[in-house]
Amino acid sequence: MPSPRTLVVVAHPDLAASRVTARLADAIRDLDHVTVHDIAAAYPDGRIDIAHEQRLLRDHDVIVWQFPWHWYSVPGVLKSWIDQVLTHGFAYGSGGTALHGKTLRLVTSAGGPAESYGAGGHNRFTLTELLAPIDATAHLTGMRPAEPLVLFGAHTVSDEDLALHAKRYRELLAP
Ligand SMILES: Cc1cc2nc3c(=O)[nH]c(=O)nc-3n(C[C@H](O)[C@H](O)[C@H](O)COP(=O)(O)O)c2cc1C
Repeated sequence: MPSPRTLVVVAHPDLAASRVTARLADAIRDLDHVTVHDIAAAYPDGRIDIAHEQRLLRDHDVIVWQFPWHWYSVPGVLKSWIDQVLTHGFAYGSGGTALHGKTLRLVTSAGGPAESYGAGGHNRFTLTELLAPIDATAHLTGMRPAEPLVLFGAHTVSDEDLALHAKRYRELLAP
């Protein structure tokens, strides 16, 4: 069976200044069935070409949202993309079936260590709990959420562990 056409929406406010997100994007960029799409670079003025984005979504089977964890959520650049692209009649509501049956996978990195995410930790909630709005978004739009790939402790991860994580990411997208 051919590999599923995979759209990786890379959502970092400044990929040139990124260590983790940039390293992960580089790990999958050359895969034939993968389209890597840096939305901050594509739309520096924030004016998103909605028809183009919707066409990209229609043309792929697996959608990846790859982003650094910012203020317990997706970065503003991804929130803005979601707000503008997942429109009524396309992603939900009457006739809004374009995303039905697609897979949605989140790939994110957080500065906090794993043990800080949970009832006893200083971030109070697990990442799964904090991701509830995205889980609800996947449900509303008919996408199947895949297990997120998360790197905790992003500020202190060694080059070796980052390389291992990048390898895991590549293996996930290239089964
Ligand atoms: C504006 C901003 C908000 C952030 N908010 C969080 C947060 O809520 N929780 C957390 O664990 N890390 C937070 N971080 C740390 C980032 O998740 C971390 O720097 C990022 O995953 C590293 O990836 P990068 O090298 O691609 O930027 C934040 C960083 C920035 C710049």
